[in-house]
Amino acid sequence: MRRGVLAVHADCLPLTGQTPRISLGEGETPLLPAPAVARAVGGGIKVWLKWEGANPTGSFKDRGMVLAIAKALESGSRAVACASTGNTAASAAAYAARFGLKCLVVVPAGHIAMGKLAQAMVCGAKAVAVRGSFDQALTIVRELAEGHGVTLVNSVNPFRLEGQKTAAFEVVDDLGCAPDCLCLPVGNAGNITAYWAGFKQYHAAGRAASLPRMLGFQAAGAAPLVTGAPVLKPETFATAIRIGAPASREGALAARDESGGLIDSVTDEEIRQAWILLAREEGVFAEPASAASVAGLLKASRAGRLAGARQVVCVLTGHGLKDPEAAFGATGQVEQVEADIGSVARAAGLA
Ligand code: F0G
Repeated sequence: MRRGVLAVHADCLPLTGQTPRISLGEGETPLLPAPAVARAVGGGIKVWLKWEGANPTGSFKDRGMVLAIAKALESGSRAVACASTGNTAASAAAYAARFGLKCLVVVPAGHIAMGKLAQAMVCGAKAVAVRGSFDQALTIVRELAEGHGVTLVNSVNPFRLEGQKTAAFEVVDDLGCAPDCLCLPVGNAGNITAYWAGFKQYHAAGRAASLPRMLGFQAAGAAPLVTGAPVLKPETFATAIRIGAPASREGALAARDESGGLIDSVTDEEIRQAWILLAREEGVFAEPASAASVAGLLKASRAGRLAGARQVVCVLTGHGLKDPEAAFGATGQVEQVEADIGSVARAAGLA
């Protein structure tokens, strides 16, 4: 049974006697060996995938959402709100539904994967799509929540990042040490901030002898932390990280600099190739944004930037089922034939 991150990591989280110990079974996700990615990286480096698509709503957001919702309940809040490229919305909607809160999600119109919107709406959230970017949606929701006594559950809510740290704890617990490098996609930059805080906390507590280098990757069309300036019209097919002004910019830059890591960009084509490699050779169907971690690892290895690394973990942040349109965009539609054995055999190349 998965007990949930509040129970498993109680000693490392800011819980009080009044914090309700809620759960939808988040956390304790698999750390999978990735031999095909390791072959592509070369140099005998071991690669692991932290498979966050295995969380209850299919993304890493559940780790932070469970704590943000528990704290909203603890403070007597009746409603939560978020801006989202999709996964935060799906997670907020599910936890709000289960634990009796109203939920508002604001998303960028036309740039959210269908599975995510379906999750939020079926779970009963009020969904509003703005004709604008995620960044504009976040600005609106921050102001709206404050004016209406609604709890904001974006990662600017500190409890979100506290909960997301638990992924770093699990990586160390599973490997028996910190990896040499941790690769992950960067959008609003909350997750890289949270992982770094988690690794540092475990290190300070004597539970990890070393700290990893943090390697964060943005999509080339939405890479404000690489270019050094906000991107007004971010573009990438990895819609989860289509963000031009990351709220946790400072945290991401600190994680990079303190860890001796890097934040780089990867093109949509590099993301697409890594995404297909993961599905076809590792059997892991992640969503496109997740594959930025692997695309980035491959780029870093080509550039000789993995010096001395023996063990690397790539975080796969969300499930591929969330974005069926991206999937069929890559594969084309299924071939239809008449319902007879000859037709199927011919289509299958067996006749
Ligand atoms: N991967 C996925 C699948 C995501 O959904 C996100 C962010 C990220 C990576 C980037 O994480 O923002 O902490 O740097 N999704 C947010 C959302 C923005 O609204 O669901 P980050």
